[in-house]
Amino acid sequence: MNDSIRFILNGEDITLTDVRPTQTLLDFLRLKRRLTGTKEGCAEGDCGACTVLVGRLADGKLTYESVNACIRFMGSLHATHVVTVENLAGRDGALHPVQQALVDCHGSQCGFCTPGFVMSLYGLWLAKEKPSRQEIEKALQGNLCRCTGYEPIVRAAEQVSMMRPSTLFDPLQRTRSEIVARLWAMQA
Ligand code: FES
Ligand code: FES
Repeated sequence: MNDSIRFILNGEDITLTDVRPTQTLLDFLRLKRRLTGTKEGCAEGDCGACTVLVGRLADGKLTYESVNACIRFMGSLHATHVVTVENLAGRDGALHPVQQALVDCHGSQCGFCTPGFVMSLYGLWLAKEKPSRQEIEKALQGNLCRCTGYEPIVRAAEQVSMMRPSTLFDPLQRTRSEIVARLWAMQA
């Protein structure tokens, strides 16, 4: 039995002991790590403002899923890769194509929901090359926006799926084999 929880947060190895059973990933990110790009809205799994990606190995394959950090307990994160919106910025501060598509399509107004939408769209972008309208709507069904009426956000998802740039641009594609090796070591 493990007496600690080990996972990767963006690029950093994290080891935690003494984690309260009720401690959420959202509180850890915002209060302990000051990663405040991940927002707190409803705090009960309904609005998607707190969406992050969690990657784990299954059958030797690394797969990322979008999760609500406000209802994800820390105890479930052993041997995973937690990815927040801060990890998307390019080395020169350039926006990720998913973020740029939201800008181009006017998919952000007050902006509170935007990091959550970015992460859900990013999860879809990683998983599916040319998603259908139905697949886009399904990927976004856990994210609420009070301002945009959703259509510009769906257009952004369509736009970014068309113009897939070099995978070397993307931080998770670039570091995939290294992350797989690190997760294997944590599982051992
Ligand atoms: S804060 Fe609303 S789903 Fe997490
Ligand atoms: S842009 Fe304001 S809630 Fe979505």
